[in-house]
This record gives sequence, structure tokens and C-alpha cells, in this order.
Amino acid sequence: MSQAFTTLIPNDKIRSRISELAASISADYAGSTEDNPVLLLCTLRGAAFFAADLVRALTVPCELDFIKVHSYFDDVNPSGIPVFELGREINVTGRDVLIIEDIVDTGQTMDLVKRHYTEHGAKSVRIAALLNKPSRRLPGLKDMVDPDYSGFEIPDLFVVGWGLDFNEKYRLLPDVMVYDPDAV
Ligand code: IMP
Repeated sequence: MSQAFTTLIPNDKIRSRISELAASISADYAGSTEDNPVLLLCTLRGAAFFAADLVRALTVPCELDFIKVHSYFDDVNPSGIPVFELGREINVTGRDVLIIEDIVDTGQTMDLVKRHYTEHGAKSVRIAALLNKPSRRLPGLKDMVDPDYSGFEIPDLFVVGWGLDFNEKYRLLPDVMVYDPDAV
């Protein structure tokens, strides 16, 4: 008999890593001002928990908004086609944009988001991701979507908890856990 859930990253490690990330981000954006604050764009729904902790630990002026990207999967596009559901119209002209993402997997979502805001006049677009699965990256996207701020690099495993879901379940688990839906 195998277990459906196995702890990969416990709660206390996630919390302390988020504090470290917040310190690096605050140092890198030290030039941001009340007139031109960093624009934090949290991807719904998965990154909501990560963003809530990260944002409250930042020490530089910032604004928070939310975006949502949905991926469609079919036989022709087994790795999915990402499409904006929310946030396409956010005005980013001249702004330093920091995307807050739960996990960078194939990289397609962050590729779409990063290219979109870059093409729409952002001064800079960076990525802060709680988790990163570099071994899953689609060829050609590697450098483009590597998170500028990465909480943890993980192997090719499906994980839930701390905001990450499986069919909208298990987001509220307090640790990042490997989930095996076939385990009995
Ligand atoms: P990408 O476009 O393939 O990089 O996919 C990114 C999105 O896929 C993330 O924002 C998650 O919503 C979802 N995702 C990828 N891997 C996992 C996982 O292990 N657990 C839960 N969601 C995941």
C-alpha cells in the first residue's frame, strides 16, 4: 500500500524561505518609490497563499493586483495553450512588474504573461515563483521563464498544498506535499 500524500517541503521551511525571498526582492527594488511602486501581479488561484506572505514581508513601496491564466489541453496541444482570463488589460506602462507564481512547470504560462507585459510597455518584468520544476521546461523556454526569485527547485513530481491544487482540492494543506492520485 502506498500513501497518497508525502510531505516534500514542510511549513516552517516555506515560511523561512519566503522571508529570504522578500529580503532579496526588497533589496533589488530598493529604488522603487510611492510614486512608482513595484507592481506585483499575483496569479490566481495557486499563488494566493505565497503572495499573501511574500507581499507582507516586503519593505519597499508596492501595489498588488491579480491575474488569471487558464490552460486548454487537447490532442494537438498536450502541453496546453495558456489564455488570459483576468489581467490582460492591466496598465503596465513604465512599471516594474513582478509576477508572483505558484510553480513554473513547462514554462508556457510565464512565457505568455512575461511576453504580454513586456510588449505592453513594462519597464521590467520579473518572476517570483514558490516552486520551480526545471526538468519539465519546454525546449526553447528555459532562460525566458526561469524565475528571478525561486523558492524551491523540485523534481518532476505533482505537488499540492500551500495554494497548489489537484482539481481544486488540497490547496489548504499547510505543507507542500507530493500527491499520487493512484495510491490506495
Ligand atoms: P506551466 O504553464 O506548465 O508552467 O504551468 C504552470 C501552472 O500549472 C501552475 O501555475 C499550476 O497551476 C499548474 N501546475 C504545474 N505543476 C503543478 C503541480 O505539481 N501541482 C499543482 N499545479 C501544478
